[in-house]
Amino acid sequence: MSHIIKINTCVAFDEDAEGRKTTIIRQCGKVKMLEDKIWNLEDLDFDQSFDVHVGIAHTRWATHGAPSQLNSHPHRSDETIEFSVVHNGIITNYSDIKQFLLKKGYKFESETDTEVIAKLIKHIHDNHPDLSFRELVEQVVQQLEGAFALALKSVKYPGQCVVARRGSSLVVGIKSKTHLATDYIPVLFSKESEKKKKPDHRPCHSSTIPNSTASLKRSESTTEFCPMGEDKEVEYFFASDASAIIEHTNRVIFLEDDDVAAVSDGNLTIHRLKRTLDDTTGREIITLKMEIQQIMKGNYSSFMQKEIFEQSESVINTMRGRVNFERETVVLGGIKDYIPEMKRCRRLLLIGCGTSFHSAIATRQVLEELTELPVMVELASDFLDRNTPIFRDDVCFFISQSGETADTLMALRYCKMRGALIVGVTNTVGSSICRESHCGVHINAGPEIGVASTKAYTSQFISLVMFSLMMCEDRISMQPRRSEIIQGLKTLPEQIEEVLKLDEKVHELSKTMYDKKSLLVMGRGYNSATCMEGALKIKELTYLHSEGILSGELKHGPLALVDQNMPVVMVVTRDPVYPKCMNALQQVTARDGRPVIICEKGDAETKKHAYNTLEVPHTVDCLQGILTVIPLQLLSYHIAVLRGCNVDCPRNLAKSVTVE
Ligand code: G6P
Repeated sequence: MSHIIKINTCVAFDEDAEGRKTTIIRQCGKVKMLEDKIWNLEDLDFDQSFDVHVGIAHTRWATHGAPSQLNSHPHRSDETIEFSVVHNGIITNYSDIKQFLLKKGYKFESETDTEVIAKLIKHIHDNHPDLSFRELVEQVVQQLEGAFALALKSVKYPGQCVVARRGSSLVVGIKSKTHLATDYIPVLFSKESEKKKKPDHRPCHSSTIPNSTASLKRSESTTEFCPMGEDKEVEYFFASDASAIIEHTNRVIFLEDDDVAAVSDGNLTIHRLKRTLDDTTGREIITLKMEIQQIMKGNYSSFMQKEIFEQSESVINTMRGRVNFERETVVLGGIKDYIPEMKRCRRLLLIGCGTSFHSAIATRQVLEELTELPVMVELASDFLDRNTPIFRDDVCFFISQSGETADTLMALRYCKMRGALIVGVTNTVGSSICRESHCGVHINAGPEIGVASTKAYTSQFISLVMFSLMMCEDRISMQPRRSEIIQGLKTLPEQIEEVLKLDEKVHELSKTMYDKKSLLVMGRGYNSATCMEGALKIKELTYLHSEGILSGELKHGPLALVDQNMPVVMVVTRDPVYPKCMNALQQVTARDGRPVIICEKGDAETKKHAYNTLEVPHTVDCLQGILTVIPLQLLSYHIAVLRGCNVDCPRNLAKSVTVE
């Protein structure tokens, strides 16, 4: 039997057949380099050494501390490696713990926050040798502040592995040759809590485990329970993201904050120290619909390229079963029961970070138009910094591809505490935002692996448009507009196909831009978000300076940047702000600017002013942003390739930012 812990992979770790010796192997760079290093290690005989094992592995992009072997995980308790740990997140009180341990004589070898965990567990173990591995981990996590998903192992406890989470996601994969004896794992509570939380008046978005008497009885017990019966063929995987384990199993459990899960002799148990009123008594084993092909690159050179080209299909998946094009109705099953409450609300708030924030900007105008409600669009971090007032009759949307972004999650909790209705808009079933929302929309774009978000943006965009359509279903005066938008949605997939045919032209264009220092993207109205999102794609992928400029602001500063050498992309489409866009265009050409214009197909008038054009099909004004953003996704991709940048993993960035 083998258990492999995989919190992404870049640094591997394993033990010998008796579980009494640990080997740590570390390597900077790509996972492939680690793999090569492992296979080339002369003193390791894999057949002999790793027949029976518990392994943990970790990869991280160095956002804190230099990327070096010494700072790579796993971190160890001492030279004999009694305990080792991998960690996703950040320990904010690590320097206090480090001071304490330094005084006790512990010597540190890395600059990381994580190393205190390895030392602290050894310290507690040395003072309490009678504690089980899981109890030791519980003691440790009680001392930690910040966000973490941890996986630990120890030569003192062979054949065991313990994981814990708070604030960072952690999923358990279960692989069994035979049918699993159960659909859920009961939670074992060490102590009953005195802490009684005020129950929320609304249920949670994600499905919860029924409080059956049988499950209550088991969960209240502290005795060990073997959830898999006698099935010894079960393998367990722990990972920060389900896509890391989908090649092994699609049966998963999403752990909750403060869960500690332990695998010991082939059995998985889930524990919580204390019980609060809203704790469920078990964790459901969910079957994911994700397919392995969805996380493979196929014939594409990068995930990002694949994801750009998938958009004609991913938007269909977002609308599938929700939009009825004949009857012109829209039903989002995850929020339909809340629509009457939403119609009575004081205001709508759309909150997110990065690309998700831009999808909120992209749809604000149509939301305001169709809901006739005030719509606030907020960057999660800034929203929190301002302690923004929130009321019980506010409806707050939290938009997040991963569903794990720390700032967005904190903003969600802030609004939930103040009694607002919480709506999650995520791409990740079972994510924290999804679980903590009262209701929500899964955007169903499929797994997005490239760090720079592309297909999630267009699917978030469509999800929010679908929501606005639901909100005005009974408004007779709005029927012509609704009908126009729904028919626009219907033709979008084939129009996206058409835009994707611009790829070669964009490639040629990128050859004239890749060696520049800066690139400005301008537009206004419905295309404001396209400019901001396009500029974000350029900067994160190509490392060129890029700015999204709302053309109305041009004369208030940015015009000073324009001359014949400054690359400028302008988005000019035939919507109500077309005359104003033309005005901006003339301001740019009057300063010798040579704009590349993203315009509508056959727009001869606009083309006259262009140095070059990228023509996209015409659609309804409020959907045009879906078609205008794609050329910019392609442009950033091609410039990045020409500049030799890593398209899927831009430097210094991460897909899921689980720290503030
Ligand atoms: C990171 C990613 C961005 C993403 C942002 C928000 O910064 O690099 O591509 O837009 O997080 O992520 P979310 O998962 O909340 O949409």
